[in-house]
Amino acid sequence: MCGIVGYVGHPNQGREYFALDVILEGLRRLEYRGYDSAGVAVYADGEIGWRKKAGKVAALEEEISARPLPESVLGIGHTRWATHGGPSDLNSHPHVVDGGQLAVVHNGIIENFAELKSQLVAKGYNFVSETDTEVAATLLGEVFHNEAGQDLTRAMQLTCQQLDGAFTILAIHAQQPDRIVAARRDSPLVIGLGEGENFLGSDVSGFIDYTKSAVEMDNDQVVTITADEVQITDYQGAAAEGKSFHIDWDAASAKKDGFNSFMEKEIHDQPAAVRDTLMGRFDEQNKLALDELHIEESVLKSIDKIIVIACGTAAYAGHVARYAIEHWCRIPTEVELAHEFRYRDPIVTEKTLVVALSQSGETMDTLMAVRHARQQGAKVIAICNTQGSSIPRESDAALYTHAGPEIAVASTKAFLAQITATYLLGLYLAQLRGNMFADEVQSVLQELRAMPEKIQTVIDGGDQVAELAQSMKDAKSVLFLGRHVGFPVALEGALKLKEIAYLHAEGFAAGELKHGPIALIEEGQPVFVIVPSPRGRDSLHSKVVSNIQEVRARGAITIVIAEEGDSAVDAYANHIIRIPQAPTLMQPLLATVPLQIFACHVAQAKNYDVDQPRNLAKSVTVE
Ligand code: M6R
Repeated sequence: MCGIVGYVGHPNQGREYFALDVILEGLRRLEYRGYDSAGVAVYADGEIGWRKKAGKVAALEEEISARPLPESVLGIGHTRWATHGGPSDLNSHPHVVDGGQLAVVHNGIIENFAELKSQLVAKGYNFVSETDTEVAATLLGEVFHNEAGQDLTRAMQLTCQQLDGAFTILAIHAQQPDRIVAARRDSPLVIGLGEGENFLGSDVSGFIDYTKSAVEMDNDQVVTITADEVQITDYQGAAAEGKSFHIDWDAASAKKDGFNSFMEKEIHDQPAAVRDTLMGRFDEQNKLALDELHIEESVLKSIDKIIVIACGTAAYAGHVARYAIEHWCRIPTEVELAHEFRYRDPIVTEKTLVVALSQSGETMDTLMAVRHARQQGAKVIAICNTQGSSIPRESDAALYTHAGPEIAVASTKAFLAQITATYLLGLYLAQLRGNMFADEVQSVLQELRAMPEKIQTVIDGGDQVAELAQSMKDAKSVLFLGRHVGFPVALEGALKLKEIAYLHAEGFAAGELKHGPIALIEEGQPVFVIVPSPRGRDSLHSKVVSNIQEVRARGAITIVIAEEGDSAVDAYANHIIRIPQAPTLMQPLLATVPLQIFACHVAQAKNYDVDQPRNLAKSVTVE
């Protein structure tokens, strides 16, 4: 779950930047992947210089200001989420071995590191850190001199043949100072192509300021980059081809833009995220056309079950989608946490469509579930926000959300974009299979197209929610209730609060209250209630209104999210947050937004780091 960057350019090309500038900028952008410690290594004047520091990238920058590194056109960098060995200066990357000539950064876990370490100790090597990375680096140095004829590419190929587990490794050696050699297995790495310079990054945000041209590589491959060349091979040394792509993300969209935090900015990005996810998905007759699906229509018509697999917020988007897909397509739809899916022996056949939802495209649990589903013969469609990432690459087809880079650990705009994309998929299947008439599909699409403006209205009303957050920042616990699509929204509201405000929060299906959770209600307990539209689903609405009364009668402070004009809630709400009118299935795109704003402001009021909450990393690339 670490962030990795590499840069190599021509010396004396008159550029205004050096390797260190590129690497530090890349690390700042990739810091969301892990922020326990950071480090860089550069090559200059015949030797490798390095700095590393526990703490955030800012601490590393201070260290470099105090002890500058020489100007250089080749280097690697790392920002860490600790696995083996706690976050300390010593355990930080790079690990520099071979008498200071070889520097290595690594993301992932080397599972057989203990065995390799004892073999290396028996050969007389000493270790100074507790990390598996130092073991891989030492092995690479040993192979470089003994079996690989001092060829770093060959050494990397041979070393990787001995490693078990998931890893991305980048290495530079003072004896081959024109190149970075990298390898990957089940851990992300993309290549950025420049003019007389090339880049490596855990994702494209590592080099987005410098190029829009990128290449993805497969598992079990090694890449060697110099300023002019990129060569990919497998671990045996056979040449391989990467897949080129154009980076859609805009460098400016990975900046805070004057907001206090990325999370706040990303909440404000949501109207655009939904609008952009809808864009370009219609043919000349305005009919839904998901060209990127690349799965034969006959196969999609034969599906008899859908399983959505995802983790965290993405799984809640899946829960929302289930209501819509079953309603529109009449296909039984399950939602399963990806890490549970594989281990429960799920019933998956060639007629099962698995939909893998992931913002990062790198969540290891989801990736493993994708592989399992495909092994069972299912077709897998990835709904993903990150180009060049593993989950879409390993799926049968990918439908990209166009939310732009999401930097804050707490997912916001990706959630709304995921709901939008799953709705497009559901409508497309309904259209293809004849479950809905064309005019019915068009009318839902009209509703979807109206959502960005309505989301904007909710964001514009954010001050009321911010004030509420300020007044409730000392609450010990906050509960969230919802029914139907409001239930996953309640779960998402609770997750946001736990994740960034470190506040106990739980989401419940409102109907479940009387089966136990109502015992939690005491005087002053804040309870958010997501109220469905009274128009169209009146029995659902009246049941939720009864639930508000039940908790209010027991002393709860009720914060009610209800649509404009719904006066039935007035008598039982301590606070009402109004959202624009929308059909029930569209409501999650609106009702989630105040909950995001609430969590963001509670965390801010408590002076927590909103974007980089403790113990977490944005992309969970270990199981
Ligand atoms: O990148 P993914 O969408 O696969 O990530 C899944 C979860 O780890 C993620 O949604 C997580 O729950 C968020 N930090 C929640 O805000």
